[in-house]
Amino acid sequence: MTIYRTANYDEMSRTAANIIAGQIRLKPDSVLGLATGSSPIGLYQNLIEWHQNPKITLDFSKITTINLDEYCGLGPQHPQSYRFFMNQHLFNHINIDKTHTFVPDGLEPDAQKACLCYDQAIAQAGGIDLQLLGLGNNGHIGFNEPGDAFPCGTHCADLTPSTVEANKRFFTCEADVPRQAYTMGIRNILQAKKILLIASGKAKADALHAALYGPVTPRIPASILQLHADVTIVADEEALGGC
Ligand code: F6R
Repeated sequence: MTIYRTANYDEMSRTAANIIAGQIRLKPDSVLGLATGSSPIGLYQNLIEWHQNPKITLDFSKITTINLDEYCGLGPQHPQSYRFFMNQHLFNHINIDKTHTFVPDGLEPDAQKACLCYDQAIAQAGGIDLQLLGLGNNGHIGFNEPGDAFPCGTHCADLTPSTVEANKRFFTCEADVPRQAYTMGIRNILQAKKILLIASGKAKADALHAALYGPVTPRIPASILQLHADVTIVADEEALGGC
């Protein structure tokens, strides 16, 4: 495991964006696993700048992306859906073929169908070359919430009260936060060839410390990353405070 300690969010974003840009240059048809939330916004801004800068021209034309998760019940036009987020914060600003971008179908009421379909999409893409992860304050990755076992493939997750609380900042009120999401499972994440986890801010410090140095346990889902052969952590001083 490689850990980059950065001074702040901006440096974290630039460092992590450089790792993704390196992946794209080395393998222009990479399959990138992507995340939403506040952590990757700065990283995506860097990628957009490098794509639009004629001296750099980072090329996404052959890239495939597979997002970690989507809220159940929210469609692509809903401003809080993760499909909307990805269009707004990345896809609308780069030369990616949107038919090569995958987000679980939040409007599919049949959970088994939605999840099977997503596992098939990952397999058809040939697996994930580089998976980007944020970290929940409770140690979740994707929406794999703390529990008694590690969920395997894509599944419908019940969000814990702490995740609903953390994510209510994106909604008008807590009651509007969906209580379920379709999410890649731990097996999907561990099957990625490389994993890049980013974390910023004090709120992540306890979870990050437990994930990196505590026992591997489904109580801290991110702790499973200790067992992956190629993990890079890019985190700022505040998030690494306890490490
Ligand atoms: C988002 C996701 C979540 C977030 C995590 C951190 O697609 O899967 O695991 O990465 O909740 O969210 P932020 O970055 O908003 O702190």
